[in-house]
Amino acid sequence: MKRFEEKTVVITGASRGIGAVIAKRFAREGANVIVSANEESVEVVARNISDLGGKAVSFVGDVTDKRSVVELFDTAEKAFGTVDVSVQNAGVITIARIEDMTESEWDRVMAVNTKGVFLCAQEAIARMRKHKRGGRIINTASGQARQGFIYTPHYAASKMGVVGITQSLAKEVATENITVNAFCPGIIETDMWAYNDEVWGKLLGNYAPGELMKEWVQGIPMKRAGSGEDVAGLVTFLASEDAAYITGQTINVDGGLIMS
Ligand SMILES: NC(=O)c1ccc[n+]([C@@H]2O[C@H](COP(=O)([O-])OP(=O)(O)OC[C@H]3O[C@@H](n4cnc5c(N)ncnc54)[C@H](O)[C@@H]3O)[C@@H](O)[C@H]2O)c1
Repeated sequence: MKRFEEKTVVITGASRGIGAVIAKRFAREGANVIVSANEESVEVVARNISDLGGKAVSFVGDVTDKRSVVELFDTAEKAFGTVDVSVQNAGVITIARIEDMTESEWDRVMAVNTKGVFLCAQEAIARMRKHKRGGRIINTASGQARQGFIYTPHYAASKMGVVGITQSLAKEVATENITVNAFCPGIIETDMWAYNDEVWGKLLGNYAPGELMKEWVQGIPMKRAGSGEDVAGLVTFLASEDAAYITGQTINVDGGLIMS
């Protein structure tokens, strides 16, 4: 029997990058997956999973909108009956000098990265309580939840907020067989990192494309960027029975970049 047979997993931010790899990994391990994102291409991820014999349903919605989040979890229950694992992974970043950062950038990053995690976790916990099967809430933070990086005060604040949400909720549901944990990816090769490489690269001194990434990767003890699979290994562990006694934790998955 596969690890997640008869388990239903909701994953936000699953149209690409880290979320899409996590979704495929859960599906390979037998889970029913709901792949969700605010772009239509998330449908392709569901189709890829189905083509390989997995069970997936896609949902297009916005994690900052309570009604949309309720609809996401309604879709999960309608398709598969329960919600056992919810991975709050949707996230956005912008990079700008303090004098250029707009109020709307601040609001958007906080809304997606922090309020979005809260709304999805809130809805997931409500469904898990109703089904009385316990559950796993897993939130995507960032190395910036450990240490703020230059030109991204809003992103650092949003991800440190994720750690606070994780700890608070973990305490609230601890006796209900529901665990709540977060993880901090370091440098993972995705579209988001391609944006980071370009914009940080320009602001930090006109790096050619790929050069900043190369330099920062040299600062990682393992001397390589991470992959979606590196992250999916941790997330599926946190979702598994082996992690039953782990809650309220925030775990780095970054090749040793940050050791705290
Ligand atoms: N790539 C990295 O190096 C890195 C490092 C640390 C943390 N992270 C975090 O990991 C998560 C995934 O990052 P990624 O690199 O795969 O990013 P990505 O840009 O490749 O994908 C982001 C996903 O979030 C979705 N999304 C964005 N806004 C949304 C909204 N309002 N509602 C619903 N979905 C929305 C997008 O559609 C997409 O599916 C994010 O939370 C990010 O902050 C990434």
